[in-house]
Amino acid sequence: MAAFVISSARISTLAVALLVATTISCRGAGVAAATLSNKYYDKTCPGLQPIVRSAMAQAVAADPRTGASVLRLFFHDCFVNGCDGSVLLDDAPPGFTGEKGAGPNLGSARGFEAVDAAKAQAEAACNATVSCADVLALAARDAVGLLGGPAWAVKLGRKDSRTASQAAANANLPGPGSGLSSLLASFAAKGLSARDMTALSGAHTVGRARCLTFRARVNGGDAGVNATFAARIRQGCPATNGVGDSSLAPLDGETPDAFDNGYFRGLLQQRGLLHSDQELFSGGGGSQDSLVRKYAGNAGMFASDFARAMVKMGGLEPAAGTPLEVRINCRKPN
Ligand code: HEM
Ligand SMILES: *[C@@H]1O[C@H](CO)[C@@H](O)[C@H](O)[C@H]1NC(C)=O
Ligand SMILES: *[C@@H]1O[C@H](CO)[C@@H](O)[C@H](O)[C@H]1NC(C)=O
Repeated sequence: MAAFVISSARISTLAVALLVATTISCRGAGVAAATLSNKYYDKTCPGLQPIVRSAMAQAVAADPRTGASVLRLFFHDCFVNGCDGSVLLDDAPPGFTGEKGAGPNLGSARGFEAVDAAKAQAEAACNATVSCADVLALAARDAVGLLGGPAWAVKLGRKDSRTASQAAANANLPGPGSGLSSLLASFAAKGLSARDMTALSGAHTVGRARCLTFRARVNGGDAGVNATFAARIRQGCPATNGVGDSSLAPLDGETPDAFDNGYFRGLLQQRGLLHSDQELFSGGGGSQDSLVRKYAGNAGMFASDFARAMVKMGGLEPAAGTPLEVRINCRKPN
């Protein structure tokens, strides 16, 4: 590279131009919703959206947490080689390694049966037409709406990958011990802004986490924690490793099953359940503090930012060259 620059000023200018172009096209590859369309199945499967909606309504009525779990599956799908249904693949056939065994998924990813049910009904209506990735995108949107959150138009036309990457799931999905700068970096790597990151984190207004993801935080490991809150949570999550590892606590203790802005009000009181949650307010340098205050005081602003960021995240595409198809069974390649 040094020789390249020394040899000619013109070439070095070209090199800079190429670098800039590469950076821009990488960003494009990150979030490129241009190929998706709101009307994708209008002719080939016009009944699709009500089908997914009613399957999700049934699942959420049976257990509201399933709505949260499906929303999380969509995040875990999109952050690993784009929204391509890869998170839905089982470790099957023998020798095939899916993403379900990756650290961020193992023992906590759930909601697959609800996606299967929605997909089965989509298959019954429109054989071999609707991708699992699109069913998941719709199911996540419907989950949010059914739990009281915003609605948005889902862009469609994704295809399903025939491959999965456990290593990429481990590398790309942020963990609960992450600091703010690391959270920002993992979203920036997907072309998502700080504002997108903070809005999307508001998904933690619903759902549950296991003790082993917040044990340190409520047992003296975190400075910025509400003492009353920590004392209550550690009753079900004592300091001893291995004791109560899987016991659950709500990510938003105020309204655990309502998609509202209670999560952000909790952060203002240092009641974030995960270390990574609390990093958004008065942790990690404070760059998100004023936005968290706004979301805590303005449910409408959170709702519209969340919806916009979900559309953006839903535009993450698989890398060029990924083998794609419309999977019949979301758990295995055709
Ligand atoms: C900002 C970085 C994020 C981190 C570090 C993070 C981490 C976590 C962790 C550790 C859990 C609990 C898992 C367990 O029990 O082992 C969880 C649950 C959850 N996450 Fe996140 N998450 C992040 C962002 C998101 C985003 C962007 C969404 C969706 C848009 C999301 C949706 C959820 C939901 C809904 C649950 C509850 C799931 C259930 O109850 O089954 N998270 N997250
Ligand atoms: C559905 O489509 C698949 C693949 O095109 C085909 O093999 C199968 O026979 C079809 N099933 C029905 C019930 O039409
Ligand atoms: C801790 O939580 C309680 C509610 O349980 C709240 O009244 C108090 O203000 C919180 N403390 C801090 C420092 O935010």
